[in-house]
Amino acid sequence: MSIIALDRVAVRVAVDGRPAPKTLLAELTLRLTEQRIGIIGANGSGKSTLLRLLNGLVLPSSGTVTVDKWDTVRAVREVRRRVGFVFTDPLSQLVMPTGREDVELSLRRSVRNARERSRQAEATLDRFGLLPLADQSIYELSGGERQLLALAAVLAVDPEVLVLDEPSTLLDLRNRELLRRTLAGLSQQVILSTHDLELALDLDRVLVVDAGAVVFDGGPAGAVAHYRALCAAGLPASGAADAARPGRPGPESPPRENPDLARQHPGQP
Ligand SMILES: Nc1ncnc2c1ncn2[C@@H]1O[C@H](COP(=O)(O)OP(=O)(O)O)[C@@H](O)[C@H]1O
Ligand SMILES: [Mg+2]
Repeated sequence: MSIIALDRVAVRVAVDGRPAPKTLLAELTLRLTEQRIGIIGANGSGKSTLLRLLNGLVLPSSGTVTVDKWDTVRAVREVRRRVGFVFTDPLSQLVMPTGREDVELSLRRSVRNARERSRQAEATLDRFGLLPLADQSIYELSGGERQLLALAAVLAVDPEVLVLDEPSTLLDLRNRELLRRTLAGLSQQVILSTHDLELALDLDRVLVVDAGAVVFDGGPAGAVAHYRALCAAGLPASGAADAARPGRPGPESPPRENPDLARQHPGQP
């Protein structure tokens, strides 16, 4: 198994009109060795930033992120071969008109022979029960089918680590269960962010992120309790949702997707 390590990593960005850079993630050192790892935290707390560091979609402003001996700044290709990334919204990841074409695109670099590529794409689609939908427009699939397809397109190239950013946020209960079962059956290391606390409770290790800092790192029950306490402390005494802490996006904010990253596809370096 690949070992992802963050060594004194911080992420800061320059923001127009602000003299000092904004800290998205405060200095952090981690070794991600468990098979199932979760990240929970409020909207805007830094979950996506942390996940995107893991395969070089976001680069550290200081410190290093390595996957085995590969650094995400200097060896991003090697890193992305090992670490697959699944976005919240599968439509920002699927770039081909149909599932079959998208999975074949994923395999484009690793399988040179077209017939073999087509055979492997079919096998991958079949593994996820998606073969009957292989030639249907991705726009005519349900949200759950699309999310499974995005997962299949990433797993087609057999990464060692699968990173998923809020994979169940757009899914209904039935599809969430399906996703949960699918993830549980994977041999890959899985690192995901989620607002689904039931899903978080299934994991081996859960980090709680708050305002760009990891404020808890340990077992899932402790993490969920910590997160609940944090949320309760942040609510006004009346509990009125619309008076949530100033400066924080409310719970109804949609997940933010950086358009520059939206075209990241396992078939493209
Ligand atoms: N490129 C950027 N420039 C400025 N601010 C950013 C940028 N990317 C993320 N942020 C801000 O960093 C914070 C953390 O974002 P993110 O990691 O997406 O949080 P989460 O995934 O937990 O909702 C948010 O306040 C977000 O607005
Ligand atoms: Mg996010």
